[in-house]
Amino acid sequence: MKRTTFLLVCGVALSFCQAQSETTDEETGAEEEHVELFTTPTTKMGAATSDFGYNLFRILASRDTTTNVFLAPISVSAVLTHLSLGGSERAQSQLFRALRYHTLQDPQLHNTLKDLLASVKVPGKGLSTAARIYLARRLRLKQDFFTLVEQQYGVRPKALMGGTKDMKDINDWVTQETGGKVQNFLTKALPRNSGLNAVSAAYFKGKWVTRFGESGVLENFQVEGGSPVRMPMMKQDNYPVKMGADSDLSCTIAQILLQDDVSMFIFLPDEVTSNMTLLEESLTAEFVQDLSMTLLPAQVSFTLPTLRFSYFTDLLPLLGDLGLSEWLDDPDLEKISAQPTKLGSVNHKVVMEMAPEGNQYPSATSPPSHLSLRVDRPFLYLIRDEASGALLLIGRVVNPKDLSI
Ligand SMILES: *[C@@H]1O[C@H](CO)[C@@H](O)[C@H](O)[C@H]1NC(C)=O
Repeated sequence: MKRTTFLLVCGVALSFCQAQSETTDEETGAEEEHVELFTTPTTKMGAATSDFGYNLFRILASRDTTTNVFLAPISVSAVLTHLSLGGSERAQSQLFRALRYHTLQDPQLHNTLKDLLASVKVPGKGLSTAARIYLARRLRLKQDFFTLVEQQYGVRPKALMGGTKDMKDINDWVTQETGGKVQNFLTKALPRNSGLNAVSAAYFKGKWVTRFGESGVLENFQVEGGSPVRMPMMKQDNYPVKMGADSDLSCTIAQILLQDDVSMFIFLPDEVTSNMTLLEESLTAEFVQDLSMTLLPAQVSFTLPTLRFSYFTDLLPLLGDLGLSEWLDDPDLEKISAQPTKLGSVNHKVVMEMAPEGNQYPSATSPPSHLSLRVDRPFLYLIRDEASGALLLIGRVVNPKDLSI
């Protein structure tokens, strides 16, 4: 068990609060303790997809501790779940373990995921996702698989011709699914011999509850081991947040409300460092939930870079570290084709924007807050759907210039 102390510095007053986070033994299948949020099938599914997302993020982030990282894990969960419908029982249980579904014991798993995806994609929340399996036509594909995925998730896998038109096909589809916002998904053609490709993408247009008065003010953003970069910043006094500080992780944590029951968590290390290993290792659905209960309301003088980010990566090299090496060697996708098939790519692209507008003004009457929250150095952030607890996006920003659209 890990005990973490949060310290909130609010003007001159100090208040202490504590959160406990249970680390459970996943390998022995020990009974996991669930907080109240994780009690319905949808919120349990929310926790499973989040934990998968944190694992994926951790693996990508640890590959190189000096780079930006950005993912929309829920769309990756979706596409790998589509794939699981084509697997043997063994393949399915390997995938379910990586996706954290093995903890759910949910006989209606696919319907639950479908409901969760629908609930986080309602228009007000600002998230659109695309997830689809693309298969080489030469594999003599079993049509039942196409029908099964389409009936369950409303997206029909697609057979590729193996020519130059494939890239345009995929890119057009992703653009269409994300309302025109995720463009040029692939910038080079898929490898000629790749049999099976998982495509996932997301666009997030975040809408603050409380608007920012200033936006686009150019200020310095510190970068580890380099000179600061000039970034457009959003600024506002008396901005309502929930806040705390974690002395073990040496960072300030803030939760900012977005519209339609979504929130952003910002983890801001005390030092200018891109190495957030300790923090990354703490992230689980339960940790973030426990944390959110300890944060206290505060009004801050808030400065935040304009978040207009885009990121693309092939996640295939990470799947081995998710416990899928054995599966990758022999994916056993017997319901897709009788011929042996292998996964050729797991391309993923995510784009986000946050507009300075909000539907409320910060309080004008109170004197300017003494507490300031200046996000002007490397930070980690995540976007969570509060109703389901599902992690929608997660990113580490070490140099916002390199992520900016
Ligand atoms: C990053 O931080 C961790 C934990 O504080 C440390 O063990 C590791 O050596 C650091 N990595 C680098 C590349 O500095």
